[in-house]
Amino acid sequence: MIIQHDITIALTKGRILKETLPLLASAGIEPQEDPDASRKLIVKSTVPRVSLVILRGSDVATYVRNGAADLGVAGKDVLLEAGGAEIYEALDLKIAPCKLMTAGPNESGGKCASTRRVRVATKFVNVARAHYAARGLHADLIKLYGSMELAPLMGLADEIVDIVDTGKTLAENGMAPRELIADISSRLIVNKASMRTRHRSVRAIVEALADAVTAKSSC
Ligand code: PRP
Repeated sequence: MIIQHDITIALTKGRILKETLPLLASAGIEPQEDPDASRKLIVKSTVPRVSLVILRGSDVATYVRNGAADLGVAGKDVLLEAGGAEIYEALDLKIAPCKLMTAGPNESGGKCASTRRVRVATKFVNVARAHYAARGLHADLIKLYGSMELAPLMGLADEIVDIVDTGKTLAENGMAPRELIADISSRLIVNKASMRTRHRSVRAIVEALADAVTAKSSC
């Protein structure tokens, strides 16, 4: 792969990173150091001029939105919550699949749907506001940064909006999923200005990753 510009790709740490690295490798882009072992924040890749930074998902969106990173890998949940016009969603990488859902305690199943006002704990406040408004409900939103499942148990909220993968976290806390808001997977995103000014380099990376996704799904 010939890259003619300095390109930075922002990756989401955690489970998404574990699934992103094999795809990147299949596209010919590998970190020169193990991101788990290294404390370096910017890691050179095996492709000259291409660097990787590893961040929280919402920070990936911020870096790409502002053009500090040219490309990024982030969950669709993050993009629904904090995307923006400056970000172009180039590719569904079909990794880290899960669902963005409302959920609540087992014993009060359906109760909230019949009231016009509901207390909702979530880190996805924009998504939640739109979801409840579309159903004609007023949501009192309580912003949390993790362990959303605790909020109904402690009387802080009636429902949560959160990611559901296996459903184990909900089940082990006496809760159940209620409504599906969106199917989630990780996406390759591109800063729109980078797309114009570094077009050939960006396109080469997008195409290599598209081929890697196709090759993986045909295995
Ligand atoms: C996510 C999510 C749930 C859990 C769901 O949390 O917020 O708590 O995974 O997974 P499950 O359905 O397989 O139980 P994560 O561990 O990513 O950490 P977070 O609380 O920081 O979001």
